[in-house]
Amino acid sequence: AKILFDKQFGTPVNPSIRKGESKVVDSVDIEDLGNKAVFCRCWRSSKFPYCDGSHNQHNNACGDNVGPLIVKSKE
Ligand code: FES
Repeated sequence: AKILFDKQFGTPVNPSIRKGESKVVDSVDIEDLGNKAVFCRCWRSSKFPYCDGSHNQHNNACGDNVGPLIVKSKE
């Protein structure tokens, strides 16, 4: 797929994850989450859709402030 440069948003949000797919969609069963799951929102994780901490390197490199979505059960 051709990656277009967007005048408003610049480069694509997703630089490398499953680019052969027309849309990256993930589904996780609630029963499989356990007490806590951490999901990537920076699109740099090697464990996508889960966070692997790569957002720190991304933020340091470009001044962004993205971080994961943490889903957890009440304590
Ligand atoms: Fe993407 Fe943590 S690696 S939010």
